[in-house]
Amino acid sequence: VRPQGTVTRGTTNPNRLRRVDRWLCRRYGSLLRGAADPLVVDLGYGASPVTTVELAARLRTVRPDVRVVGLEIDPYRVAAAQPFAAPGLEFRTGGFELAGLRPVIVRAFNVLRQYPESEVDGAWRALRQALAPGGVCIDGTCDEPGRLATWITLDRTGPATLTLAAKLSTLDSPATFAERLPKALIHHNTPGQPIHAFLAALTAAWHTAAPYTTFGPRQRFTHTITTTRSTGWPIEPTPHQWRQGNLTLPWPSIVPNPEGTRASRD
Ligand SMILES: C[S@@+](CC[C@H](N)C(=O)[O-])C[C@H]1O[C@@H](n2cnc3c(N)ncnc32)[C@H](O)[C@@H]1O
Repeated sequence: VRPQGTVTRGTTNPNRLRRVDRWLCRRYGSLLRGAADPLVVDLGYGASPVTTVELAARLRTVRPDVRVVGLEIDPYRVAAAQPFAAPGLEFRTGGFELAGLRPVIVRAFNVLRQYPESEVDGAWRALRQALAPGGVCIDGTCDEPGRLATWITLDRTGPATLTLAAKLSTLDSPATFAERLPKALIHHNTPGQPIHAFLAALTAAWHTAAPYTTFGPRQRFTHTITTTRSTGWPIEPTPHQWRQGNLTLPWPSIVPNPEGTRASRD
């Protein structure tokens, strides 16, 4: 089977995916612990497999017998990764079809951002169909050092949640999430769209919470979220996540409204 997708830039960085990895361990640790086959795929690991090696190390603390497979559509990158293979960690060629694997977790970071938006639905469908029962796929993006990240979690039925994650000590304003939204949302951050209204509400609350900066950025972020929730945004009530700089919303609350979007810019 021909791998589904196209080769794109391979930019990566050590430790840039720590935020999503920590979140995965916390939120889906029990899914991994309970999996009949503890198989995890890192799709599109890039020019160096460093973040796949890190993912495997982090997941091993949750499930010591986890099997991590790094899949890349670029065969040269698969060859270059072979020296990093180890027990429970391998690298193979594959695309959105996941090379016939049936993983319980897929992490696809900074992959779809390089595709036209029109290809997202097809890629999501292929990824979802390849998941093991109860499995999840994380489609996300982040900045180069991994201080700002956003991701959509999909299950076998469709997108389930959106998560925004930031290193709070360097966060100027939640408005900066706008530059790092997943492909499915970035072109819909326009007036009239839920994601635009949500980021505006979060940014306004961040400004109102400025006095809490005295007590540290975590306090400020927590107050920002409490205020935003009080205006009706259904951010999950997980204060331990807020203190880490993470917030999660159900997908239906930010799904783009087809009538409200200008032609997408790919
Ligand atoms: C920017 S790198 C991301 C590296 C790493 N995941 C990160 O976030 O730092 C994107 C990689 O995805 C690969 N890629 C693009 N489409 C793919 C697909 N359909 N299946 C597998 N890999 C793909 C590209 O070849 C490229 O190496």
